[in-house]
Amino acid sequence: MPLSLRFVVPLALALAAIAYAVVPLVDRLTFQWFVRDLDARGAVIAKTAQEPLVELLREPRGAKVRVQRYFDRILQGERVYALGYCDRAGKLAYATAGFPADARCAQAAAPEERNWVLQLADGPLHVSSNPIAADNVLLGTLMVVHDMSIAQRRSAETRKYILYLFAAIATVVALITVIIAEISWRGWVAGMRALLKGETLLRSPMGRAAALAKTTPELRPIARDLQALVHDLETERRARDESQTTWGPDALRHILRQDLKGDEVLIVSNREPYIHTRRKDNVIEIQRPASGLVTALEPIVRACSGTWIAHGAGNADRDTVDRNDHVMVPPEHPSYRIRRVWLSKEEEQGYYFGFANEGLWPLCHIAHTRPIFRAPDWEHYRNVNQRFADIVADEARSEDPIILVQDYHFALLPRMVRERLPRATIIAFWHIPWPNPEAFGILPWREEILEGMLGSSILGFHTQFHCNNFFDTVDRFLEARVDRETFSISHGGETTEVRRYPISIEWPPAALQVQPPVAECRSRVRERLGLAPDVLLGVGVDRLDYTKGILERFMAIERLLELEPRWLGKFSFLQVAAPSRSEIDEYQNLDARVRALAERINARFGKDGYLPIILKIEHHDAAQVYELYRASELCYVSSLHDGMNLVAKEYVAARDDEQGVLILSQFTGAARELAEALIINPYDIEQSAAAIQLALRLRMLRMRARMRSMRNLVQEFNVYRWAGRMLLDAARMRHRRRVLAPARAVALRQAGGA
Ligand code: G6P
Repeated sequence: MPLSLRFVVPLALALAAIAYAVVPLVDRLTFQWFVRDLDARGAVIAKTAQEPLVELLREPRGAKVRVQRYFDRILQGERVYALGYCDRAGKLAYATAGFPADARCAQAAAPEERNWVLQLADGPLHVSSNPIAADNVLLGTLMVVHDMSIAQRRSAETRKYILYLFAAIATVVALITVIIAEISWRGWVAGMRALLKGETLLRSPMGRAAALAKTTPELRPIARDLQALVHDLETERRARDESQTTWGPDALRHILRQDLKGDEVLIVSNREPYIHTRRKDNVIEIQRPASGLVTALEPIVRACSGTWIAHGAGNADRDTVDRNDHVMVPPEHPSYRIRRVWLSKEEEQGYYFGFANEGLWPLCHIAHTRPIFRAPDWEHYRNVNQRFADIVADEARSEDPIILVQDYHFALLPRMVRERLPRATIIAFWHIPWPNPEAFGILPWREEILEGMLGSSILGFHTQFHCNNFFDTVDRFLEARVDRETFSISHGGETTEVRRYPISIEWPPAALQVQPPVAECRSRVRERLGLAPDVLLGVGVDRLDYTKGILERFMAIERLLELEPRWLGKFSFLQVAAPSRSEIDEYQNLDARVRALAERINARFGKDGYLPIILKIEHHDAAQVYELYRASELCYVSSLHDGMNLVAKEYVAARDDEQGVLILSQFTGAARELAEALIINPYDIEQSAAAIQLALRLRMLRMRARMRSMRNLVQEFNVYRWAGRMLLDAARMRHRRRVLAPARAVALRQAGGA
């Protein structure tokens, strides 16, 4: 049934029913009014006629003729149908022509029925009987008869008019209803369309969603439900797509080609993936930095042949770039380019060593090293972020590239890039922990940092815990709308999605491909370290950083040897520590303390060439590190706080023999995924020592199942999946924006015109 009929038919039926009920009622009412009218009229005529009539009746002779004439005169003047006069005995004494025979005088005598209606064949007559008296003596009754056919006619006409009136009302009401229904239906349809296109799901600078909700406020509850539904569906779809994909370079390439239509990808990080350094003999060599971030991003940028913008920190970096400061890498199969950014000594000091590593790093890690904030460092940090943002805009070949911004060195950059490239999709990833609002609150420029980060389209952390800390921090310090249901923050008219993306490593790791069997790694490493073949080996691989808990680790080893001297000469721990940020006092102190502690423990327990701790503070490349992983019985990760910690995942990946035990600090992001590791609190030295003891004793037994399960997890949730999820989210966002672009343009025009 057409929409308008759905309104009109019930309306017409209802009105017809009302008319059907109303017509007899109105009919009866008008008849009663008419009868009452005639009653009154009869009484008035009788009253007027009383005196002359009494006079005429008193005349002894000729009264009949005169009364008759008098009655005829009344008939002419008063539009009366007939008149009659009954005497006191109840006999009809005088009557005009047409006086109905049925109007009997006896009836007139009954006082309670002074007026009545006679139903005759020709129509009804109204008879009104009125007493005629003189000197309080009743002489007779004057009967005034009115023709009531006129009342009948009027009532028929009234019926007709009522029907016409109802028909007219029905038509007008139906018309109005149809027009209003049509208009509001169109509004609904437009509103629903906008909702389905996701228009209200995006908040925007001009409050376009708010404008839509204002024009169709009745859609607000639906908008909310739909928003939640879309979010659930998207999450579900993402989970389904994700779990059905085999995550590797091909999957990433597929996303870049299919979902992102080959759009441009730029990466910004402080640390470059390849550093050119000149040796003393003047030969230039290439170094891979000890950075989890670099390890994770390299496979992605290879897959998409993008541009990686980073600080050119190597002393031979300038000698290896072209005139646009570009260098193609990797050297063996060039597949993407690095754009190097040059910083002066002062800039590097203020931005990198100062604000980023003496300020933000300890602030976010809460590892009991006090952050230092200096205003000149902040100045440099801001300027360097601006310089990088300008370079991003210069390097971009399109208006809307995808820009992957890495880590705490570039908290201000997303907003700065947004100003230069408003249509870019900016994904910022924070590789380190995010503290609680109280801890973050001590930063003098906390609002600027938060606002800078909220220039991103998507902001990623490793764990939900860090996302929640970020929500709390923004809630505390900014005028922003934090939506924990859709994981988004609206600030200054822009929306940033805040998501958990646990970083991982490539699977299978490239460095594993070149490894000999485990037995060979074991013997090679033992030979190199001068260890007997049966010595059990523990390994720690870190940057030399106070957040890694290296001192606590050594203390745990010392405690183990105190408690279990049987391990003396049978267990050694190899600590590989890549020198890091060595211009900072705190790192120099740490270097000294680590060396001193290792020396003290070695002096205490070492004997005949046996060293419980073998400390190598030097850079190791990936192949060397993987060899150590494979050669060891256990790997010890004791970070006091760590965003993720990829060493834990690398160790698991290196053990294709399903052997080896991972001891893992509960304060790493990795501990949330690798629950089968021996989880420790690195501050608890007794517990940590017990964990090493357990690892050494159980290494062959129940540990295989644990290792297998962790390997499955790392294989499934590898770095391609980490990057793929971010890129898919970016693709979804870009797709939505493209779909909405025409509707937005209209809304913007309307907002401009308003
Ligand atoms: C951490 C940070 C990275 C950094 C790496 C190495 O993993 O999250 O951004 O690159 O440490 O530190 P460095 O200061 O040498 O780059």
